[in-house]
Amino acid sequence: MTKKRVAVLISGRGSNMTALIEAAKAQDYPAEIMLVVANLPAAPGLARARQAGIATAIVDHRTFGSDREAFERALDAQLQAHGIDIVCLAGFMRLLSPWFVARWSGRLINIHPALLPQFKGLHTHRRALAAGVKRHGATVHFVVPETDSGPIIVQESVPVIDGDTEETLSARVLEVEHRIYPQALRLVAEGLATFAAAGGETAAR
Ligand code: GRF
Repeated sequence: MTKKRVAVLISGRGSNMTALIEAAKAQDYPAEIMLVVANLPAAPGLARARQAGIATAIVDHRTFGSDREAFERALDAQLQAHGIDIVCLAGFMRLLSPWFVARWSGRLINIHPALLPQFKGLHTHRRALAAGVKRHGATVHFVVPETDSGPIIVQESVPVIDGDTEETLSARVLEVEHRIYPQALRLVAEGLATFAAAGGETAAR
């Protein structure tokens, strides 16, 4: 089995990144985490990746000012340099341009802490509580230019319990995230979940 070479992009603590690293240790897992890239040098997940013996890179978006394209070209250069096949966004807090998304289309996935298409964007747990939904959850999806909108690969729900706070609800959802992200990456790496953008180029390497 040729394992797919995966990069994980983070901005923060990296607990989903860690779940992917752990899952990829299994011999029969079809993907290998080759690189972790952070857009913030202070991202705590970087140290966790280094401890796990994984190559890390920092592409600090602030050094590129408002030049989003230059930031993304630097990011892309890191991915190319490591021969990456699949990119996993895991708490990566930068919006990616249509150029970058098209370049990695079908090979770029994200985890979102809500049952998409509900609660796109930020503060999903707070908004789920305010809306009074009975179930909440997490979704792994292919990335398309519109934020949090691509085809769903895996989704799992949890109950919202009386007395839940943002903290208790997010902890319950996070457990699900750590389970479904490795499942979704497996499906993509095995070619069992695919996505080709309509009329788009999917492999513009
Ligand atoms: C997760 O809830 C993820 O779904 C969201 O940001 C959070 C990142 O957490 N996009 P971590 O850095 O993976 O611990």
